[in-house]
Amino acid sequence: MIAANVSLPPGDSPDLILVPATPEERITSIKLNSVAWKGPLDIDTYIERENHLFAQNLTRDGLTCWILVDKSEPEGDRTILSSCETYKKKALLAHGGRVEDVSTHGIGSVYCRPEFRGKGYAKRMFEELSGKLDTWKMEKESRGKALFTILFSDIGKSFYAQFGWKPFLSSHMALPPLSIGGQSNGNANSTRDLYAEDVEKFICNESVTAKLRDQLCDASQKTTGSKIAIIPDFDHFVWHWAREEFFSKNLLPHRSPPVIKGTGNDEARVYCAWNRNFGEEPEDNVLYILRWVYDDPQSAEEEQTLVQAMAAILRRAQREAHEWNMHAVEFWNPTPLLQKAVKMLDSDAQVVHREKSSISSLRWTGAQQGLGDDVEWFLNEKYTWC
Ligand SMILES: CC(C)(COP(=O)(O)OP(=O)(O)OC[C@H]1O[C@@H](n2cnc3c(N)ncnc32)[C@H](O)[C@@H]1OP(=O)(O)O)[C@@H](O)C(=O)NCCC(=O)NCCS
Repeated sequence: MIAANVSLPPGDSPDLILVPATPEERITSIKLNSVAWKGPLDIDTYIERENHLFAQNLTRDGLTCWILVDKSEPEGDRTILSSCETYKKKALLAHGGRVEDVSTHGIGSVYCRPEFRGKGYAKRMFEELSGKLDTWKMEKESRGKALFTILFSDIGKSFYAQFGWKPFLSSHMALPPLSIGGQSNGNANSTRDLYAEDVEKFICNESVTAKLRDQLCDASQKTTGSKIAIIPDFDHFVWHWAREEFFSKNLLPHRSPPVIKGTGNDEARVYCAWNRNFGEEPEDNVLYILRWVYDDPQSAEEEQTLVQAMAAILRRAQREAHEWNMHAVEFWNPTPLLQKAVKMLDSDAQVVHREKSSISSLRWTGAQQGLGDDVEWFLNEKYTWC
């Protein structure tokens, strides 16, 4: 390990390498980044949470903790100069009317300890990562490589763009929590709460995925450029809920963990799945709608019914937010129909375009595979976050 009194290597040193961490080094890197991300948890509970998330289906086999180290240091005693995690995910790619099952990686937990910052370690890590990630864990994929990878920047739009992760649409709408007695606008009786198994049934079923394939296929025939989507499989939702359930168990031990995971309206065939995010301060608590599912209306009348049902669903989400002391209900990249539904509840509500945090970013390497320079990201919703 580099001694504290020895000068650190420069970020462009030929001796630096990016390697997967050993299990012990992974724990060390979690301890280091706890300063930034443990929130209201103590360090041991934060490590426990990270291990709990790691054990979920979404991440069990696909998560890699990467560390930037000096290659002259012995494994097991290496100084972690910077670190990040990558999560392998299933995705769909459509190009010229053909849909392929592909895989990608999401990048998260990008970190450099405060005393090592500004020396170019995160930059070096991303230079190294962009060379490795496309083929990492891709041996069994039909093309042998990922055609794109994603991340969600909390440090604005330019840092990651210099390595190819370009900012995509990063907007949201928010509504405040509403007390139980709050006025209902829209027919609240027609909504039904969704438990985990209902989310699997209504939001992650085969026909929803088949529809997504058709949509991507269709779009790729109508316009040039590739279309991609992260498959919104049930594992994604379970991973998000593992987080909220862990927080709730530890921070609210006298309360049963939250079991209502979304809401829907069977007549209008619109459903959403949500997740409670417990932040460092109460005002950071947000009930995020992870994903919306509905069919496009075929008439003005159908549209009216759908928008009303969406509004009732949002009202239900606002009540759930109040119930769990969440500061807001938020959902990403609202469609025009969802914008109409929000406006029914709050005529002043605006679409917010984020400039700094949770910037959806994507690095496209499909051009090298003859798939063109342009790519469109379908279902750029909160469930994809990692
Ligand atoms: C972001 C972080 C990983 C950068 O690590 P680093 O090793 O100091 O970065 P480098 O020395 O390679 O590069 C520095 C560049 O980082 C960028 N940067 C760092 N922090 C930033 C911030 N909060 N907002 C915007 N850009 C930032 C700047 O572009 C800076 O460029 P400059 O040197 O021209 O000012 C580190 O500051 C960190 O761990 N922060 C806390 C956790 C975090 O926010 N992670 C990112 C989550 S998306």
